[in-house]
Amino acid sequence: MPRLPFTAPNLLAPMEGVTDPLFRQLVLELHEPKDLGGTFTEFLRISHQARTRRTILQHLGTQGPIPVGLQLMGRKSDALLETARTAVSAGVELIDLNFGCPAKGALKGCAGAAMMDDPRGLEDVVQSIHDTVGSEIPVTAKLRAGGDDDSLLEDLVRAACAGGAAMVTLHARTRKEAYAAPAPWERLARAVAASSVPLCGNGGIDSHADLARMRQETGCTYAMVGRAALGNPWIFSGHEPSAKECAEFLLAYADGLMGRDAPLRGTVSRLKQLLRHWSVGGIADGAEGRRSWLHEGDPEAVLARLGTLAEQDRQRV
Ligand SMILES: Cc1cc2nc3c(=O)[nH]c(=O)nc-3n(C[C@H](O)[C@H](O)[C@H](O)COP(=O)(O)O)c2cc1C
Repeated sequence: MPRLPFTAPNLLAPMEGVTDPLFRQLVLELHEPKDLGGTFTEFLRISHQARTRRTILQHLGTQGPIPVGLQLMGRKSDALLETARTAVSAGVELIDLNFGCPAKGALKGCAGAAMMDDPRGLEDVVQSIHDTVGSEIPVTAKLRAGGDDDSLLEDLVRAACAGGAAMVTLHARTRKEAYAAPAPWERLARAVAASSVPLCGNGGIDSHADLARMRQETGCTYAMVGRAALGNPWIFSGHEPSAKECAEFLLAYADGLMGRDAPLRGTVSRLKQLLRHWSVGGIADGAEGRRSWLHEGDPEAVLARLGTLAEQDRQRV
């Protein structure tokens, strides 16, 4: 079994439209490899055409000491296998397969969470990628707890293992439950019992303390954070940032986006995506605090307010 490249048990989840290479890089730079063990690209969807080396490298972004796995989503096809081969020649350290996406496009293409009704099909996809990339590159599988219910949970985990997955990530919600609370962690313990490889638990981690609690309560080897990391990019180390640090993080993200030619309005929409979840530094506390950012219609005003926050805090120190 190929070695998993992660440097610690805490992992950042892939989130399409949010964890772009720039956001990921900023989060990775906040952490030591002992606190954040790895992350993944947003899914790269493969339908009819294989993806090029250039696209794969763009998706991966800058590589540093904390590994970034490439996530692919597609049904078994020549295009998927060719993309996996290209990824290996481009130097990816790990390929993760997405079997959790509940979006209509994925389901219609028999990809993503469509496979939650079809353990045999899932095994076939994992096996085909495993055979294609060889024994040096770990192939991992990110599953949900099932489709309409969790009755196939153990079969799905066993299918991923039989196909050669080096790690199984389980998002504890079913496809039907989408992203609704709660994420029943007892399903993670069931998955650990069914799995012959390390299990990564995911779903419903809200705080730094939850990372260790998930592993203790369920027996998972790894714990993966999704949305809570958008509102607290320091969640993996437990550092409690000041308002200044929060404002600087958000301004650095805005600068980076605009440096890549993103328009001002689009940049501030990206900031608002984070502010919707923001939970640290006291800058967006409570429903009213959050609304004050989200309802601000003038993008310049959002940046000016962040600038003032960074400045005021600096003066106070
Ligand atoms: C906006 C958004 C985009 C997502 N995109 C992906 C993706 O590209 N690949 C994937 O495997 N999961 C994706 N997910 C699911 C997350 O990785 C994670 O499984 C889910 O949010 C549950 O974890 P949480 O409760 O900690 O947020 C996405 C979730 C959100 C909210």
